[in-house]
Amino acid sequence: MTSGNWTPSSWRERAAAQQPRWPDEAALDGAVKELSALPPLVFAGEARRLQASLAEVSAGRAFLLQAGDCAESFLEFSADSIRDKLKVVLQMAVVLTYGAGVPVIKVGRIAGQFAKPRSADTETVAEVELESFRGHMVNSEAANVTARVPDPARLVSAYHQSASTLNLLRAFTTGGFADLSQVHQWNQQFVRSSTEGRRYEQIAAEIDRALRFMAACGIDLSAETSLHQVEYFTSHEALILPYEEALTRTDSLTGDPYDCSAHMLWVGERTRQPDGAHVEFVSGIRNPLGLKIGPGATAQEVLALCRLLDPEKTPGRLTLISRMGAANVARVLPSIIDAVGTAGYPVVWACDPMHGNTFLSDGGRKTRRFDDILEEIRAFFECHRRAGTWPGGVHVELTGDDVTECLGGIGDIVEDQLEERYTTICDPRLNARQSIDLAFRVAELLRA
Ligand code: PEP
Ligand code: CO
Repeated sequence: MTSGNWTPSSWRERAAAQQPRWPDEAALDGAVKELSALPPLVFAGEARRLQASLAEVSAGRAFLLQAGDCAESFLEFSADSIRDKLKVVLQMAVVLTYGAGVPVIKVGRIAGQFAKPRSADTETVAEVELESFRGHMVNSEAANVTARVPDPARLVSAYHQSASTLNLLRAFTTGGFADLSQVHQWNQQFVRSSTEGRRYEQIAAEIDRALRFMAACGIDLSAETSLHQVEYFTSHEALILPYEEALTRTDSLTGDPYDCSAHMLWVGERTRQPDGAHVEFVSGIRNPLGLKIGPGATAQEVLALCRLLDPEKTPGRLTLISRMGAANVARVLPSIIDAVGTAGYPVVWACDPMHGNTFLSDGGRKTRRFDDILEEIRAFFECHRRAGTWPGGVHVELTGDDVTECLGGIGDIVEDQLEERYTTICDPRLNARQSIDLAFRVAELLRA
């Protein structure tokens, strides 16, 4: 912990980057009070189970798949969209399990991922200066002055949407939707549905053979709970601190504080100042933590953050999520891996190949190239191979919908197509087919 004086509100003594300018303090206090009285969204015991699974990742015995929206939306919220996002993650996980030969820990960017850090506090649209859109937990993306005013009632709406999302996820993941044979069938459909997909026929056939082998050994695939149900954890960026504080509760079993808004919380690249409010807040909660590290990070900085966030060197506590940009990985990551390893921090190493590879298309759309995303993962694997460390996972932005937001990949989306189905309210996401394509590519890398 940062200091002996940590409380859920001790972050208030520090400078907090990326906070909205709430116009009405009393309304904010009211929302926080309301949230503080509402039930927790997740249980401390579940967060501990995730931390134990992440400890397996840090030891090289499991792989982390963290994936979901850049920013969840209050408007595009339906059972179908939750189901389709889960379906893609399950499909990816089966392919990755095969590729890595170890269990894949599934963590969604979901059921709470409603707040965004922004590079500028304001933007100018049609000559009008507007406050930046900060995610539906804060304001609306509509381009007018009133829509952009931060509204604390949105904190409460975010909680309720998270609760119903989680409820559905829990039903899907235990109610048969995650059945391994079914997920494998979806993957076979993907492989058969295009010439590009056929490239993966061999991997799909090998998975098929493994399933038939198990059945032949007398394992009833439909009755085996571990093949029929999955554990799906939630995560989001701990950005809007009054919300996170309000959902922080003392676990009755251990007496420890847990932020019960999600199983895992991460600190973003823009809010990871060692003396800042976000680091102070997460240092005291006992959930497993993520920390984004960008191309400007130095080994010294990362070590200072490890000391603050994982002073006891607990396996599974801290996941370092590098997001360097494909071209920067080989230059920046090795010295960080070396310093963290030498100091003995048992971190999970994960790769976010999205955020360092964003650029503006000629048409002014934020986009990312599938090939850059894949290249960042390849470079990340290569650094870890050289260092003798385990490349523990990937962190991606995706949707189950057939959007056209990232370029290339299966279906080869080109710049002119970005306008067709560009529905993200923040960063460009991989669509379902690009996501599964990526999983097969990563499986190939893992097996190489
Ligand atoms: C994000 O994960 O959506 C994000 C904003 O990432 P980063 O902090 O790495 O820029
Ligand atoms: Co993003």
